[in-house]
This record gives sequence, C-alpha cells and structure tokens, in this order.
Amino acid sequence: MKGCVLIPYRDRAEHLKTFLSDANVKLDVVVIEQADAKLFNRAKLLNIGFEEMKDKYDYFVFHDVDMIPFGNIDYSYCENICHLARKVEQFEYKMPYAQYFGGVTLFPKDKFILVNGFSNEYWGWGQEDDNLYFRCKKKNLNVEFRDIYYRSLRHESNMNIHTFRKNSQLSVDFERNPDMIESDGLNSLKYEIVSHETFKTHIHLKTIL
Ligand code: UDP
Ligand code: BGC
Repeated sequence: MKGCVLIPYRDRAEHLKTFLSDANVKLDVVVIEQADAKLFNRAKLLNIGFEEMKDKYDYFVFHDVDMIPFGNIDYSYCENICHLARKVEQFEYKMPYAQYFGGVTLFPKDKFILVNGFSNEYWGWGQEDDNLYFRCKKKNLNVEFRDIYYRSLRHESNMNIHTFRKNSQLSVDFERNPDMIESDGLNSLKYEIVSHETFKTHIHLKTIL
C-alpha cells in the first residue's frame, strides 16, 4: 500500500524547511499551498490534496507542518482511520481532550471518500478537525490511534474569536442536520490549481480556493 503525507500550507516558510529536513516520514510529501488572501482553510486544502493525489496513493496522512514526529514514526498503512498526533509537545504530550482529532490523521482512501472528506466551509482557525471526527462517527467507522510523538514548532496563535464562533455555529448545524455531510465535502469541492512543482523533497501545489 502506498501512502503520502499531505500538508496544508501558507506563509510558514521556516516551518516547512524544518519539516522537510527533520521529519523523517519515509512517505512522499505533498504540500498544498493556499495562494489567495482569503482566510486560511486547512480542511479545504487537504481535500484538494486528496483530489489531486487520489489516483496515485492508497492512503493519506493529513499533517500539520508544525508537528515534527520523532521516535517510532509508524506511518504505515492502516485499514481503519487512525489518529496519530496523540503525544504533542504543545499539549504537554497529552491529549488536549478525549476526542481531539487534529494535527495528524491517517485515512485509507476508501474511508475518506465514505465520510465525503472534510467540510469545505471551516474558514480560519478551529473545528474542522472536530467535524471530521463527527463525520467518522456518523458513518460508524472505527477510529484507531497510534501514540506517535511530535515536537512542536512555535508560532503566533491564529485563533480569532469571531471566526471561531462562526465555525462553532457550523458544527452545531452539522449536529442538528448530519445530512449536511452528504452535500459539503469532496463532492462539492471547487478550486483552481495555479502551479504544480516537483522538488527532490516534495511536490508543491499552489491553489486558489
Ligand atoms: N497553516 C499554515 N499557515 C497558516 C495557518 C495554518 O500553513 O497561516 C497550516 C500549517 O500546516 C499548520 C496547520 O495549518 O500546522 C494548523 O494551523 P495552526 O498551526 O495555526 O494550528 P495550531 O497549531 O494553533 O492548532
Ligand atoms: C479546536 C480544534 C483544535 C483543538 C486543539 C479545538 O478547540 O476546535 O480545531 O485542533 O482545539 O487546539
């Protein structure tokens, strides 16, 4: 089974440099850069990476650029969905809450299609990862975990109370009407790829959302 790491990215050059030199992940790395001035949309970038790469790989590791794995880095195939970022320095190597599903997750291709990918509607920081977990639960999919350790790269917080509230409201809407999963995700994804470059270390896509 062939897998790749997908990294949502914009304006974190130092982090990307460190990831590419220090994270010994042994899978192909694909960076999806948001090349517009809209609010950052981590989830949509990962959906785009999946769409662009789905014919070449069997499984996908959705990966924040500021988490550098160390120790036993097991990114091998798993037939179930698997949460990997469970021991992260920024959370003192503990889960911030029991259902935390952020940072790094592994999805076999078929399972990501079953949940219709991420929602495309979470703009700005927060909740898109919680919504992905909600999708997995609604589809009754097993979620496994691997306790992989991560060093955290420092950055200013991107948390904005207004966009966070908007995203919280969207999550409430999903809970009231889970059918929204069927109309918001991979099947409603719209974007444009503006460049596609292949480097020794990674593939770099730039996209407009
Ligand atoms: N990210 C990025 N540029 C941004 C915001 C986010 O590249 O301006 C990407 C990057 O991969 C980052 C991930 O989205 O690791 C999650 O965002 P962030 O690090 O802000 O979340 P936090 O670490 O605060 O949970
Ligand atoms: C946010 C998540 C985030 C987590 C840990 C939650 O409040 O909704 O998106 O990953 O906090 O920072």
